Parts: sequence; C-alpha cells; structure tokens
Amino acid sequence: MKVGIIGSGGREHALCHAIKKSNKVDEIFCFPGNAGTNSIAVNVNLDISNFKSIEEYILKNKIEIIVIGPEQPLVDGIVDHLEEKKIKVFGPNKLASKLEGSKIFTKNLCKQYNIPTANFGIFENKEKSLKFLHNCKFPIVVKADGLAAGKGVYICENNKDGFIAVEEIFNGKFGIAKEILIEEFLDGEEMSFFIISDGKDIKKFGTAQDHKKVGEGDVGPNTGGMGAYSPSRLENELLDKKILKKIIEPTLKALKNMNTNFKGFLYAGLMIVKNEPYLIEYNVRMGDPECQTILPRLKTDFFEVLNATVNEKLNQIKLEWFNTKTLSIVQCSKGYPGTYEKNKEIKNLEHVVLNEDEFIFHAGTKIDNSRVFSNGGRVLNFVAKAESFKKSKSIVLNLIKKINWKDGFYRKDIGYKVIDE
Ligand code: AMP
Ligand code: GLY
Repeated sequence: MKVGIIGSGGREHALCHAIKKSNKVDEIFCFPGNAGTNSIAVNVNLDISNFKSIEEYILKNKIEIIVIGPEQPLVDGIVDHLEEKKIKVFGPNKLASKLEGSKIFTKNLCKQYNIPTANFGIFENKEKSLKFLHNCKFPIVVKADGLAAGKGVYICENNKDGFIAVEEIFNGKFGIAKEILIEEFLDGEEMSFFIISDGKDIKKFGTAQDHKKVGEGDVGPNTGGMGAYSPSRLENELLDKKILKKIIEPTLKALKNMNTNFKGFLYAGLMIVKNEPYLIEYNVRMGDPECQTILPRLKTDFFEVLNATVNEKLNQIKLEWFNTKTLSIVQCSKGYPGTYEKNKEIKNLEHVVLNEDEFIFHAGTKIDNSRVFSNGGRVLNFVAKAESFKKSKSIVLNLIKKINWKDGFYRKDIGYKVIDE
C-alpha cells in the first residue's frame, strides 16, 4: 500500500516511523516532511494549504490512504475536499474539527450536553469583558476563540492581566475576534487523553502528560510542548470510565445530532480535579509531543489500525500495548518560543546507532546536501521506552549528549512528577 502523511513535525515523523514498520506498506509520502522523514519516505514539497495540488499529487501517484497530522488543514476542511475525490483520509471533517477550531463552539456544546468543563462566559466586546473582569474572582482564564498554536490563552492573576488579555485579543493578535471566552480557573493536574474513532466505534488510544511551559518548573510562556511521558500518572480504570461517559460519549452524540461523526484521533485536554475530569480543550488530532511517546508503546500494527479506521472496521482491531514507560524531551532552537535563528547545522546524527527502544524524531529540520540543519522552533525529539520513567529519561539524556547540538536547549526536568531524583 502507498500511504501519505500531511505535516512536518515530530508527530509526523513518529507517525511515519510507526507506519513504516508494517509489512503491508510499500511506500510513504510526507507533505512536506522533514530531514527525519526524508530517510524513510518521499518528501513532497507542496504547500499543504493548497488542497487542489495535494489532491492532484495523491491521485497521480496512486496514494491509497492519507493521514492528516496538524490541525490547520483539518479545520480548513482538507478531509471534506479529499473525500469528495474518493480519497481515503484519516482525520475528522470540517464540522467535527470545530471542536478544536472554535473554543466557543466546544464550550456551548459542553453546556448543551452537560459535559464537565470550567464555568464560562462569552463576551462580544471589550467593554462587556472588562466589566465582567472588574467583578470576578481571580485567577481567571481569558481565551481567544480560534486556533492560536497554544498561545491565545491567558491565565490572569488580577485585573491588569485581564485588561492586557482582552486588549490583545480584541486588537486582533490571534486574528479577527468577534467574541472572547472568559472562564473559571481550574486547579488540578492536566492529562492528555486520546481516543481513535472510525465514526462508528471508538477505542481508547492512550494517555500522556505534556509539559507546555518553556521553563523548568513549569514557568514562562507556553510552547507547543517541551516534552511528554506516557502513560499519565493519573490514569486508572475508574477515571477512564468517567472520561468516556461524561465527556467523550456526549461529544460524539452531539456530533451525531449535527448529522456528522468523528473519524481520526480525538485528543481531550483534561484537568483532573479530585479524581473528576473537566474538559479544558479538544484537539482533533494526535498531540505533539504526546504522539512520540504513545506510538512506541503500541504493539498492534499501526498501519492496520489506520486502514481499519478509514474503512470503518475499527471493531475488527484489538489494540495491544507494551507495558512500558516512554518519555520524550524536545530540543529547541535557542530563543524559542520567541525569536530564534534557523539553519544551524546538527552533526552526529548519522553516527548514533539507535536500538529498538530508542528514537530520535525530527521536527524543525531540513536536509541540504546530506547535511541536517535546524528549520524551526522545536527541532528534535529524543524518546526512549523502558520499564520505568527514570530509565527512559536516562537513556534520553544520553542520546542528547551523544548528538551534542550546541545551538539548542531543552528542559532537564521533563517527567519530574513521576521521577524521584
Ligand atoms: P488550551 O489551549 O485551552 O489547552 O489552554 C492552554 C493551557 O492553559 C492548558 O494546557 C492549561 O494549562 C491552561 N488552562 C486553560 N484553561 C484553563 C482553566 N480553565 N483552568 C486552568 N488552567 C487552564
Ligand atoms: N502538545 C500539545 C498539543 O499537541 O496540542
């Protein structure tokens, strides 16, 4: 089979790597991919927002299944576009992708279906937002409605923070803002919970813990994710049941009532407060870097899982997992998530021999004349799988040392909640 993957991050390299292991897969194409995918797939340098050119390439090259990695093309309707041309796609359609594309859509859905989430209000202008903030209890969370790569969320400790948030959002920092979301601050521990669905059946697809802040000790600005581990330390059967019953099932029912369904990965960003799950946000795709920690734990042939999903036969698949702990550390360009330089050479990659429990997934990298250069904020994901998080982390740190890339930085405390040091 020929498989295509849309995207160019660490998540997409991990997807590519997992698909490659199947003996049913002959060739993989990555749109546009990175230096890591380049060694196991054909990188296709097309603009992924140009659905027509993607469609033409897929049809011309007889690619049989397309997997969509990132949120932007999903929210923009790539699945609807390709399915219209009878191409099999793994990912949700445009309407279902509103779960990630509009926080206000999701909050209203939560309200209508009694899904536990932080109490909230929606305000259509600066004056009304500021008036509300004037009388509210802090901390409080102010959010822009649309996609903002993890940046449109402000945790406000006082009126002044709230004022800045409202000003920035309504002044268009994250695109035209017709409305703003203000919500109660939930004090608990976060967990990323994943399911896979073919539109008919669902299966749990693991849990993970991301580290979103740039600084050690969870301080500083938010990033796409500086490292993760899987499974989450909060995972247990009773909590799983609550999440499925109170959050996931009513959401899928709501989509059904809108005459649609959900196909692909649904990622619930949860806050667990005293063993009770609250929905913070939905993402309509795998997490990055969560994906890099979840896929190495999957025992079942991943391509068969994707193939069954796009053919609405997920019920014929039994998902099996290794009982191991994975941890990933992301190495970033110095300056990220602010401004940083690109085109810094990364040497040593070809000298490091990885065993089957060690992985280096590329993110912002590119290849030029067989040499690898940085090409983004998050650059490399170092991942290991072992019997304990402590062991995984020590393997990861050792890999980072071997590559010894001087232009990058990483958080040394990834996994601090599950590792006693
Ligand atoms: P989001 O993009 O909605 O996931 O928000 C980014 C981050 O802000 C989350 O991962 C949380 O750490 C934090 N956050 C968002 N909403 C809340 C909330 N209601 N209470 C506490 N923290 C929140
Ligand atoms: N790691 C957070 C995300 O993928 O949205």
